[in-house]
Amino acid sequence: MDKKMINMMRETSNIVVLTGAGISQESGIPTFRGEGGLWKKFRAEELATPQAFKKDPALVWEWYKFRQDKVSECKPNPGHHIISEMERFYSDFTLITQNVDGLHRKAGNTKILELHGNIWKMRCTADERVVDYFSCEGIPKCECGAIFRPHIVWFGESLDSNILEHAFKVSAESLVFIVVGTSGVVHPAAQLPIIAREKGAYLIEVNTERTPISSHSDCFLEGKSGELLPVLWDEIKQK
Ligand code: OAD
Repeated sequence: MDKKMINMMRETSNIVVLTGAGISQESGIPTFRGEGGLWKKFRAEELATPQAFKKDPALVWEWYKFRQDKVSECKPNPGHHIISEMERFYSDFTLITQNVDGLHRKAGNTKILELHGNIWKMRCTADERVVDYFSCEGIPKCECGAIFRPHIVWFGESLDSNILEHAFKVSAESLVFIVVGTSGVVHPAAQLPIIAREKGAYLIEVNTERTPISSHSDCFLEGKSGELLPVLWDEIKQK
């Protein structure tokens, strides 16, 4: 592995990690784009937009319950576990994820900024209250009488401004930024590694293929995150 990258990771105390669907691929959760991607099988505009929910909330809930069922069968993989070890190792650590599956939390991470929401939470469509998902027949209802919606950022919606502001701040201040398993085409998440790099961070990318972020990276690690992150971490810990 690249010596400069290893030294940078050994010497810093400040690391930001950004993950996308690729980190969960080895846990059995399909990615969104590429072969077998969710958006190849299902039409995003019929399922993941406010218009789709307004038109047919039952269908949208059916899709999210289907995804919850799939996710509940999955466990964090070695890639998630290494990122959890990083949180314990570095005094100034933040994980930013685009994933809604909750696997980082299951692996033990606590300092997480969930940019796109969480499949295990829901939000009241009237008073915006966010609660943990509870299983029920049909469409879940809030005690105020209104229906809940999945606490997910859909196409055409803005991200939570507090979370986003925090993500931009830690990215701009980071000394080492590691981006794992994202196609780098969905904004504003895709801007975070670029901003980190512009502000002087050392940028490492882990992906099975090159992305629009790759040309900005100081180090591109080509391969599966569940295989590469443990190898990288072993080397960091060797003195
Ligand atoms: P994508 O499906 O767009 O991209 C997944 C990336 O992971 C690709 O670049 C793959 O090459 C890479 N990959 C696949 N398997 C991998 C592995 N084992 N190890 C490392 N890399 C691997 O997923 P995202 O970039 O996360 O938004 O997509 C961004 C957003 O688009 C999602 O959060 C979702 C979607 O629409 C919302 O739901 C709001």
